[in-house]
Amino acid sequence: MCPPTLAEVMDLPQRSALARHWQLDKQCVFLNHGSFGATPIAILDEQRKWQDLLEAEPVRFYEDLAMEFMRDSRRSLASMLQCDADDLALIENATSGVNTVLRSLVFDKGDEILVPDHAYQACRNTIDFVAERWGVKVVTVNIPFPIEGPTVAFDAIMAGVTPRTVLAMIDTVTSPTGLLMPFERLVQALEEKGVAVMLDAAHGIGMVPLALEELGASYTTSNCHKWLCAPKGSAFLHVRKDRQHLIHPLTISHGMTFPLGDTTRFRHEFDWTGTRDISAACSIPATVDYMQNMVDGGWPAIMQLNHDLAIEGRNILCERLGIDAPCPEEMVACIATLELPEGGEAGIPLHEPDPLHKVLQDKYRIQVPVWSWESPKGRYIRISAQLYNHVGEYHYLANALAVVLNL
Ligand SMILES: Cc1ncc(COP(=O)(O)O)c(C=O)c1O
Repeated sequence: MCPPTLAEVMDLPQRSALARHWQLDKQCVFLNHGSFGATPIAILDEQRKWQDLLEAEPVRFYEDLAMEFMRDSRRSLASMLQCDADDLALIENATSGVNTVLRSLVFDKGDEILVPDHAYQACRNTIDFVAERWGVKVVTVNIPFPIEGPTVAFDAIMAGVTPRTVLAMIDTVTSPTGLLMPFERLVQALEEKGVAVMLDAAHGIGMVPLALEELGASYTTSNCHKWLCAPKGSAFLHVRKDRQHLIHPLTISHGMTFPLGDTTRFRHEFDWTGTRDISAACSIPATVDYMQNMVDGGWPAIMQLNHDLAIEGRNILCERLGIDAPCPEEMVACIATLELPEGGEAGIPLHEPDPLHKVLQDKYRIQVPVWSWESPKGRYIRISAQLYNHVGEYHYLANALAVVLNL
């Protein structure tokens, strides 16, 4: 007979009733939707159907049908994003979206790219790489954390603009600090000043309402595999019409010379970037519908429920750990970051795992990110809230942290 698993003897907290739609490990308290999302079982089945269709007749799939399927996916996204489906490119992830834009653009020596210090490191690396090639200056704006409100972030970013600023990379929701940025106001103000905005909305679609036409950002990229819950490797890049001639896919392919017909070079180039598995992209329309039917009120209700749970989870942690919330509720969407109180190790380099993360994972079966960060300096934990989570899971995390940190 097998010995009982740790989870069986530990009485792990229950998930919500909606967790039945996901295949998450029952022996894991999963509080990290933010990193890679999690996809419902029915959508994984849907993806499998697309793969089966492809493999039944690969040539017909790619040559006769793929464009139509991808168009359906773009249309489905466009109706949620309030934009023209032809301005969307289906790509694999937000990192590629940022790379596509940054590596397409032509800069003059001495131009400036503005980026807040809470930017996602992979995207920041892209900026540094491109800046070095072109002799561009990267202006890093410090955003305080804790922070009093969105205006502080807005003012800090706008104060970094100079006559040489040509591009600003702004997040919808920051990765390390989980801050919902005043991105609508920022996009408007920056674009009005002639600064093109690269909106990193990796935490975007399905987490916060996005109306891209009205928003007016030059470039927006968002992951569908995070808060939309589509299969992994599904994301989009939206490029405003007047900027489309500047942007080419990371992979140059047939689209560059394909006869235009009644479409655009942008469409041709992004619709075919070489043979790739588009089953995740094809699953987008089913994902949009399936998720919105899970809850009365559809997507707005999902976003609200997840926000409310993130706030509740944050309150539970703050109370149990005796710490203050680092930002007002209006700066929280569906993830929330807290600076951990003194206790245990701090200052561990980002690329090395934090031992607290390992203890939470191995001893308590909690999956939640813990890391040290230089700017703002501190040791952080970030919770996520998705429909499958339940308030009891945050109590469980709070109690585990109190024990491990000797509080
Ligand atoms: C703000 C932000 N940008 C970009 C990314 C990159 O996403 P992906 O790995 O899917 O490209 C993430 C991932 O967590 C993120 O949080």
